[in-house]
Amino acid sequence: HFYVAIMAGGIGSRFWPYSRTDYPKQFLDILNTGKTLLQWTYERFTQFIPEKNIYVVTHHQYAGTVAKQLPNLPQENIVSEPSRKNTAPCVAYISHKIHKKDPKASMICAPADHLIMDATAFTSTCLNALLFAQKNNALLTLGIKPTRPDTGYGYIQFETQQVADNVYQVKTFTEKPNLELAKTFLKSGDFLWNAGIFVWNTQSILKAFNTYLPEMDELFVLEKAALNTPQEKDVIEKIYSQCTNISIDYGIMEKADNVYVIPANFGWSDLGTWASAYENLEKDYLGNAVQGKNVMVIDATKCMVKAPNDKLVLLQGLDDMIVVDTTDVLLICKKENEQQIKEYVAEVKRHK
Ligand code: GDD
Ligand code: MG
Repeated sequence: HFYVAIMAGGIGSRFWPYSRTDYPKQFLDILNTGKTLLQWTYERFTQFIPEKNIYVVTHHQYAGTVAKQLPNLPQENIVSEPSRKNTAPCVAYISHKIHKKDPKASMICAPADHLIMDATAFTSTCLNALLFAQKNNALLTLGIKPTRPDTGYGYIQFETQQVADNVYQVKTFTEKPNLELAKTFLKSGDFLWNAGIFVWNTQSILKAFNTYLPEMDELFVLEKAALNTPQEKDVIEKIYSQCTNISIDYGIMEKADNVYVIPANFGWSDLGTWASAYENLEKDYLGNAVQGKNVMVIDATKCMVKAPNDKLVLLQGLDDMIVVDTTDVLLICKKENEQQIKEYVAEVKRHK
C-alpha cells in the first residue's frame, strides 16, 4: 500500500535563464551529473516503491518530457494538470486518485528537483515515515538542519520529546519567513527546514483538505466518481478552472495541528537557486564555480558562472556574482539578490 507522487509541475524561475517555463529545472541536469533531477528522483524511489505505484504529477505541457525522461514509468502514471495552480491542487488531485484506487494507501509527495547525496539514508528515512504514516492520522514532513537564514524555505519548530522512532510533533510551521524572522529561527537553534517531502496516508491528507481547504476539497469530492475513468480529464479541467492557486505549505502545513517531522540527514539540497548550485559545485582556488568549456575568469572571486560550451565568456574583477549566459539571454546578478530573480523574470515577462 505504499505510493509516491513526484510533483514536477513547477517552473523553476529562480534558475532563470537556464531554466525556462518551457523547460524547467526538474528536467535539467544542473550539476552535469549525467541525469536530470527528475531522473534521479525517480530512481531513488524505485529502490523501495514498486514502479506501478510511482506517479508523476505535472503540467500537461511537460507530460511528453516526463515520458521521454522516464521510459519505464507506465503512461497512466503520468498525471497531467490543465493549469498551474501550485502544489495544493496537485496534492488534492493525486491523493483523491490514489485513495479511490486503494483506500489503505500511504504516500510520499516529493519534489522532482532536489539533490540527495545519500540514497540509502533517504530510503530508510522514507520507510520510517511511511510506517508511521500508515498507522497514524499524521501529516509528516522531513526536516533538514538549517545552515543559513534562507527565506525560500519553510521553518519547523518541534517538540523535544519523540512520539515514535525519530518522529517529533511539530509546534509551528512557518512558510518562507522574512529575513529577520529566518535569522531569529536560525539563531534559536531549534528549527528545521522543511524539505518539502511529505508523507501521509491518503485518508489523513484528505481529511486535512476537508478541514483547511474545504472549497478545494469539495470540487474533487463532487467529481470523485470520474477519477480513474475516461471522464477524468474533462472533470479535472473543470475542477482546476475553479481551484485556488496555493501551495500545500500555506494551505495545509501551516494550519494543521497533526504535523510531525522526522529530522533527516541524507545530504539534501533544494538546488533552488544559483547559490545552492554554487555550493554543490567544485570551485577554483578563488572560489569560482565555473560551468562551460570556454569561460575565462580573471581576478574574480566566489562567482557562479555558467555558459554554453561554445561561447567564450570573459569575467574580470567580479566578486560574489552570478553570471549565466545562454544563446538568447544573459543574466548578471549579485548573489545576495538571487531570491529576487523570480521577480525579475516576472518583470521581464511584463515588458515583453
Ligand atoms: N504538479 C505540480 N503542479 N507540481 C508543482 C506545481 C504545480 O502547480 N508547482 C510546483 N510544483 C513542484 C515543483 O516542480 C517542485 O518539484 C515542488 O512542486 C515544490 O515546489 P516549489 O515551487 O519548488 O516550492 P518551493 O521550493 O518554493 O518551497 C517548497 O519546498 C521547500 C524545500 O525545497 C516548500 O515546501 C518549502 O516549505 C520547502 O522548504
Ligand atoms: Mg523548490
